[in-house]
Amino acid sequence: MPLVSTTEMFKKAYHGGYAVGAFNVNNMEIVQGITEACQEQKAPVILQVSKGARAYANHTYLIKMVEAAVIECPDIPIALHLDHGNSFELCKDCIDGGFSSVMFDGSAMPYEENVKIAKMVADYAHAHGVVVEAELGQLAGVEDDVCAEEHSYTDPAVVQDFVEKTGVDSLAIAIGTSHGAYKFKPGQKPQLRFDILEEVSRRLPEFPIVLHGSSSVPQDMVAKVNKYGGAMPDAIGIPEEMLREAAKGAVCKINIDSDIRLAITAAVREHFALHPADFDPRQYLKPARQAVKDMVSHKLVDVLGCNGKA
Ligand code: G3H
Ligand code: 13P
Ligand code: ZN
Repeated sequence: MPLVSTTEMFKKAYHGGYAVGAFNVNNMEIVQGITEACQEQKAPVILQVSKGARAYANHTYLIKMVEAAVIECPDIPIALHLDHGNSFELCKDCIDGGFSSVMFDGSAMPYEENVKIAKMVADYAHAHGVVVEAELGQLAGVEDDVCAEEHSYTDPAVVQDFVEKTGVDSLAIAIGTSHGAYKFKPGQKPQLRFDILEEVSRRLPEFPIVLHGSSSVPQDMVAKVNKYGGAMPDAIGIPEEMLREAAKGAVCKINIDSDIRLAITAAVREHFALHPADFDPRQYLKPARQAVKDMVSHKLVDVLGCNGKA
């Protein structure tokens, strides 16, 4: 099966009461860990590449690794998506360069500018068979090294106008999730604005909604990182049952990156602590890749509900 767009995936997810996982990829072990889990679980998957990932690993290397995964995992649909594209030029570059989906993130821009560029991206993408995600509202947390302290929740009153004017195919909304490993303060009760999600889906029937910042920051992994010399005090994520709930409704795509980083870091730290003489990267990258695979398998089955849906 060649690289696919997310159109079919989202249609099935919307009506099937589950969400597709969108996992960030930055190197070979991450691509392999994610796609091996999805192949085993027969789950559709979105591999997403940020501007930072392209700067780190290079567009060509990333696309060739994803193409290799498509060959190695013939039973599952795989989409390749640009995560948080912040300009028309970046989106165009990825469309021209073989991506099947792009996000234009104009959430920090004034509304009219967000509309204008999202429409330009959608027009160009659609002419090339590529789908587009856009964003309204702003997440708190760290993104491309920029840290926003406060959420700016999505205003449901404008979502219809935005989708009609731009023609985008899916919409990321801000309901209290945030980027990074520190989503809530210690002692703070994790909460998401399900009322906003409901109102957005009422105003946009059958329209796929996206949740960014949806890592759950598993506490056993945080404990392992800290046990083996790390310093991640008070790392807290989104409770899994809240994501499961969101996935049952209009949320068709759930973005996860920090949990992959955590899985790798915990595995590598443990390996170094237990095997201090090892210096062949394969010795510690193998358990790291396995940790990504285990973590993704768990998400597919227990959080997203997309296992068996390929
Ligand atoms: O939302 C941001 C993703 O976690 C990607 O992060 O820009 O550091 O690659 P990055
Ligand atoms: P996390 O930091 O919660 O993994 O979110 C990732 C994300 O939203 C990528 O776009
Ligand atoms: Zn994001």
